[in-house]
Amino acid sequence: MHNIRKITDDIIYLGCSDRRLALFESAYPVKDGMSYNSYLIKDDKTVLMDTVDKVCAEQFYENLDEALGGKGLDYIVVQHMEPDHCALLQEVVKNHPNVKIVCSQKTVSMIKQFFTFDIDSRSIVVKEGETLKTGRHELKFIMAPMVHWPEVMVTYDIKKKILFSADAFGSFGAINGNLFDDEVNWERDYLDEARRYYTNIVGKYGLQVQMLLKKASELDIKLICPLHGLMIRKNTGLFVEKYDKWSTYTPEEKFVLIAYSSVYGGTENAVNLLASKLADKGVRNIKMYDVSITHPSFVLAEAFRCSDIVLATTTYNAGIFESMETFLHTLVSHNLQNRKYVIIQNGSWAPNCGTLIREKLEKLKGTEILDDSICIKSTLKPEQIPEVDNVVNTIVKSLGI
Ligand code: FEO
Repeated sequence: MHNIRKITDDIIYLGCSDRRLALFESAYPVKDGMSYNSYLIKDDKTVLMDTVDKVCAEQFYENLDEALGGKGLDYIVVQHMEPDHCALLQEVVKNHPNVKIVCSQKTVSMIKQFFTFDIDSRSIVVKEGETLKTGRHELKFIMAPMVHWPEVMVTYDIKKKILFSADAFGSFGAINGNLFDDEVNWERDYLDEARRYYTNIVGKYGLQVQMLLKKASELDIKLICPLHGLMIRKNTGLFVEKYDKWSTYTPEEKFVLIAYSSVYGGTENAVNLLASKLADKGVRNIKMYDVSITHPSFVLAEAFRCSDIVLATTTYNAGIFESMETFLHTLVSHNLQNRKYVIIQNGSWAPNCGTLIREKLEKLKGTEILDDSICIKSTLKPEQIPEVDNVVNTIVKSLGI
């Protein structure tokens, strides 16, 4: 049965949600599911804004048929050629052979990589700022390379002041009936997953996101329609503000994140003691994660939020304990910049992971190592308490308490 929703008097939501998915992109746990958004602009000309993931094929075809109501499909705007949005493109073209595909030049070559249908005869290649009039709507195309793939563009509906934002301003999480951010407590219940989505999916490309934000700042935006998650019409200002912070690698808040891994509890004991002493000194909102347990995507999102990070782990096979090495890889590959670090190393016979961690962190612009002097030999010893107190004082000073 179709399940279409009206976004405005002539824009229809055709998307769907997957709550069975374990890992989005085979990489990210999605505890609240995932939505794949697609929209039909039903104007004098009909315009489909992207399709959806193949998992939603049946629902999508029913939705599209119902939304068209017997009209033909004139255009498909392909904003992003990643299969979570374009898996059904070939089938839609087969069912609507006269449709024109509006996209960037890079998208054309990507379509050829994924599909076998004839794109050259039906493509309308658009460049930065070019427009398409469909009747009551006029769509302006804005290139957004690397947000999140090189071919990405977003689309601004000039007359209705709607930004179809592709992956930008998206979020993990299914659509649960409510379509708009003002129908839920967005800041309380949805912002964390929007942050985890941003930091993991496009966190590396801060510069390119900044370029898109600059272009968006020249637009009057009443509604954002992303390809994942809720439509945003109340929190547009807050969301843009967050994007500005995330894409400039600016901490959202001054607080300390303690990320650790511990084989037999010696390292864990040390960071628990550190956290208690920080709390006793008035440090608030301390966050602690065992990176062997918590998926790196969650810890990365917290790392983008915080100002100071403690990394504590053990030496393992003459290197860094694997789960911490994975987390460090996540930090470096997502280009997190401008953070202050404390490194605590453990090692029962040849501790050297502290040096290896430092080498990795120093690849990141704006890294400041506050302290890396604590070296635990299996367990923290009473004579090392002054070393912990010294680190506590260093973090307190850094946080400005
Ligand atoms: Fe939602 Fe980059 O695809």
